[in-house]
Amino acid sequence: MFIMAHRGASGFAPENTMAAFKKALESDADCIELDVRLTKDGVPVVIHDSHIKRTSNGGKQFIHDLTLAELKTYDFGAWFSPEYTGERIPTLEEVLQLIQSCEMQLNIEIKNGPIIPDDLEEKVLDLVYKYNVNHRVMYSSFDHMRLQKIYALDRTAKIGLVFHINLINLFSYVDRIGIDVFSIHPNYFYITSDMVQQAHNRGIKVNTYTLDDPAWAKKYKDMGVDGLITNRLLNFN
Ligand code: G3P
Ligand code: MG
Repeated sequence: MFIMAHRGASGFAPENTMAAFKKALESDADCIELDVRLTKDGVPVVIHDSHIKRTSNGGKQFIHDLTLAELKTYDFGAWFSPEYTGERIPTLEEVLQLIQSCEMQLNIEIKNGPIIPDDLEEKVLDLVYKYNVNHRVMYSSFDHMRLQKIYALDRTAKIGLVFHINLINLFSYVDRIGIDVFSIHPNYFYITSDMVQQAHNRGIKVNTYTLDDPAWAKKYKDMGVDGLITNRLLNFN
């Protein structure tokens, strides 16, 4: 199976930090999944939540209300373990620099809310092309309109539709959105053999999130699921 390290090797290091991404590079992961948001001054940064409270020593301050310089003053590692004290929020550019010289693939998940920035997608694409890693990147989101925009800007972009609801007539939707979909990323508990079959009949891969139990991973592998987004199911060199 295609293994994606969710927010980096986030079972072993603080999520969405350079430490977690470096750890993923030392593992057998094929790909790093990370979440991207835009700062107040328009810089794509890597963080899951819309605010910094859970994963830093800051309070409930929104990413879109803070500049990169302000965000860089907070500690994003100590909440996980004292050994990671001093970790800073990474920019997407810093992660692209890290993976530029290796084979690691990237699943860039576009995040938004409570506001939807105008130009996050353009900025992400510009950076991906600046570092010439477009052939190793896929773009995913729960917000499929953001993916529609990426696809409009770059017809070669690999698009992964993330789902956290169990849609009726999923493939009627997939067939009609006007995107040449590379993969669907449903929450694992909605996946059925029929769903996998219908995806594969269309040449679409099925990647699921977020699975950390080896027995469950085997179950979905046997079902034909192509990829796994995981915090912990990584082997280290
Ligand atoms: O790529 C989807 C996966 O990351 C699950 O979503 O909330 O962890 O970004 P989330
Ligand atoms: Mg994510």
